[in-house]
Amino acid sequence: MTMKIVRGNGKEITSYIRDNKREIIDAFETPGALLLREFDTNEIEIDEVARLIGYTPAHTYIPGIAPRKAAIEGNPFVFTSTEAPPHLPILPHTEMTYWPDPPHLILFQCKFLDSSCPQVNANETVLFDMKLAAAELNENLLEKFANGCIMERKYPGKFNPNWDIEDSIAGGSCWQKAFATENIADVESICKLNNVEFEWISTVSKEPPTLVTKYHSSWYVNQRLVLQTPLLGKAVYQDMIKRFPQRFDNQRMYETVEGGSAAPKVDLLHPNIPGKPFLKESEIFALMEALWKHVVFIEWEKGDVVLIDNKNMAHGRMNCAGKRRIVASMAHKR
Ligand SMILES: [Fe+2]
Repeated sequence: MTMKIVRGNGKEITSYIRDNKREIIDAFETPGALLLREFDTNEIEIDEVARLIGYTPAHTYIPGIAPRKAAIEGNPFVFTSTEAPPHLPILPHTEMTYWPDPPHLILFQCKFLDSSCPQVNANETVLFDMKLAAAELNENLLEKFANGCIMERKYPGKFNPNWDIEDSIAGGSCWQKAFATENIADVESICKLNNVEFEWISTVSKEPPTLVTKYHSSWYVNQRLVLQTPLLGKAVYQDMIKRFPQRFDNQRMYETVEGGSAAPKVDLLHPNIPGKPFLKESEIFALMEALWKHVVFIEWEKGDVVLIDNKNMAHGRMNCAGKRRIVASMAHKR
C-alpha cells in the first residue's frame, strides 16, 4: 500500500531528517505518505520538519473551512488538526482544494493519545490513494471530475456558534473567521489576488453583509482525484453510517446530519449549467466506493509524525473517543 513507515528506535528526529533528506522526500512524494514512528521529537515541531526538507510552512489558513486554533504558543505555523465534534467523521479531502494554490505537503503529529481509554475503534486518521482510487472509476465520471465544479461558498456576516470558534486563528463559517479579518477591503484583496470571483449580499438588518465566493475546481488532475467530499452533503454522511454502523449509526450523528450543521454552506454546481448540482447520488456512491478500496488507517502512537503529499493522498478522520491531540502544519514547495 501507499504509506511507508520508518521506526526511529528513539533516535533524534532532526539528525535523522538531515541525514536522510532525499529518501524522506522520495518516500512521501512517490508512495504519497510517510510515517515516522518512535523518534525523539522533543527538540522540534513539525513546521521545522517541513523546513528541513525544503518546504515553507504556512502561517495562515485562509479561507479555511474547519476552524483552527494555534497549537503551540508563539508558533503560528502549527495548528490544531480540527475542532470538529468527536462523533463526526472528517470525510476524505485533499487539503484546501476549494481555493487556489493548496498546500503541497501536510504534516500531522500525535502529541497525545489517551491510553486509559478502553480499546475501541476510534481516533484514526485515514489516508486515501488518489491515483488508485481514480483508476477505479469509469471514463465518463472521470471526464466529469476533470471538468470540475463551481464551488459557491456562502459566508454569513456574523459569528456562527454552530461552527465558528472564538479563539480560532483562521477558518470557519463567517467571513470574519474564515479570512481572519473584520475588514471587507482585506477580504476583497485576498479574493482578487487569487482570481476568485466574489460578491457581497446585504442583509436586512445593520449586520455585516454575507460574502459569496465562486471558484471553479477540477476534481481530476494528472490522473489523480482532487477531493472535497465533506461538501457533498448528506449522501456522504449516509454512506459513512452504512459503511461503519458501529461508529456512526447513532443519534448524535443523525441529529448533526439532519440539522445541516455538519459543514458551512458550499454548493457544488455544474460548471456549465447554472444551478445544476455537480454530482448525482449514484456518482457520489461510486466515488466513495472507489476511495475506500485504497485506504490506510493510521492508528496513532504518541510522537508519530506523518508527512502526506497533498496531491497523491487525501485524508480524513474517523470518530474520536477519549482525549486525542493531533497537530497539523501545511507547507508549500517554493
Ligand atoms: Fe484536512
